[in-house]
Amino acid sequence: MDKDQPQKKMVYSETVNLQGLEAENEALTSSLEKLEQENKVISTTLNRLEEESAVLRELFHNVNTELTNLKKPALLVAEIMTIIENNKAVIKLPNGNKFYCYISKDVQGLQCGESVLVDQKSLNIMEKIEFNSNLEIEKFVIINKPKESWKEIGGLKEEVQEVKEVIELPLKKPKLFEKVGIQPPKGILLYGPPGTGKTLLAKAVAHSTDATFIEVVGSELVQKFIGEGAKLVKEIFELARKKAPSIVFIDEIDALAATRMDTGTSGEREVNRTFMQLLAEMDGFKHLDNVKIIGATNRIDILDPAIIRPGRLDRLIEVGLPDEEGRLEILKVHSKNMNLQKVKLPEVSAQMEGFSGAEIRAVCTEAGFFAIREDREYVTPEDFLGAIEKIRFEDDDELEPGFFG
Ligand SMILES: Nc1ncnc2c1ncn2[C@@H]1O[C@H](COP(=O)(O)OP(=O)(O)OP(=O)(O)O)[C@@H](O)[C@H]1O
Ligand SMILES: [Mg+2]
Repeated sequence: MDKDQPQKKMVYSETVNLQGLEAENEALTSSLEKLEQENKVISTTLNRLEEESAVLRELFHNVNTELTNLKKPALLVAEIMTIIENNKAVIKLPNGNKFYCYISKDVQGLQCGESVLVDQKSLNIMEKIEFNSNLEIEKFVIINKPKESWKEIGGLKEEVQEVKEVIELPLKKPKLFEKVGIQPPKGILLYGPPGTGKTLLAKAVAHSTDATFIEVVGSELVQKFIGEGAKLVKEIFELARKKAPSIVFIDEIDALAATRMDTGTSGEREVNRTFMQLLAEMDGFKHLDNVKIIGATNRIDILDPAIIRPGRLDRLIEVGLPDEEGRLEILKVHSKNMNLQKVKLPEVSAQMEGFSGAEIRAVCTEAGFFAIREDREYVTPEDFLGAIEKIRFEDDDELEPGFFG
């Protein structure tokens, strides 16, 4: 028995030791778990803080850029006049002053006529302004397919024939001209007194050819877009070429192309530059380029002969006041939907000596009003007589001496 005593003691103490170790292990495991949990919390906090820090850094960057931008001096907008040896240019400021300056290395591919930003002090070119030229130009010009057809033109037989020959035919059958070996005119000039159907002719030819019809008004080009005229002309022709076949119709072309005694004032110089650009554009494309130009004016007397030189608007078509037969034709066009009673159109037309197409149309509308005022549903010869008197009277009031000789 005694022999067993120390052995028992040993077993006992080992058990106690093991229990102690197990307890210690348990304590350690739980504190490890705790630490792991704490670690998790800390790393989520860290993540959050890192995210916040990124946001703050971005905010700082933005504010900083904004601040730097605000501190920068404003740049002036100028236009390139001439480029010299790739890194120098003559620029023009909006006030008309011209300067010789350097082009910054970062600015590439500049061309004359483009807008750039220049440093206020050195006037060196810092940036190019990129306009989306087509969108810009499409805001300023009218592009549409006119509804007016040949049928709506009364009289003007020879004029219609000529317009068809020089505008419609080359657009429809360019090959024919190539084979025969002649060059159709690039453009025509319609001239004559107001209201005789010049605009109507241009629209009808655009209607019959399915060409893109780009309509610009000369006086608007020079008045509304001061300083931009030349650039707009350039863009108009770019657009015309892009959308070919097309017809560029320049109404009131005299506003651009009038002969000038002096070119002293800046306004005159501006018109002159727009005009020069127009000539350059006309010279710049080939005869069969599928772009036709129609100019219209009622002041051919003041037109600069440069515009009607060969290769430009070299076919002049006079659109004059209609004769009696012409007046009858126009009257038929404008009265075709009217409810007429006992009206003899030839007699009405005989009464309208000296009337333009626009006035004949006004007579028809006015005659209709006479009927409406009397609560009638039909128009009588007396209505026409009254209308003719009224229109003639209005015109006499408006007539300016010396206008269109
Ligand atoms: N020959 C015509 N046949 C039918 N209608 C005509 C004729 N001429 C003129 N008109 C009528 O008069 C309106 C005005 O004509 P249009 O605008 O073509 O004149 P214009 O010659 O261009 O005048 P302006 O020189 O004032 O611009 C036309 O919309 C049309 O209704
Ligand atoms: Mg017109």
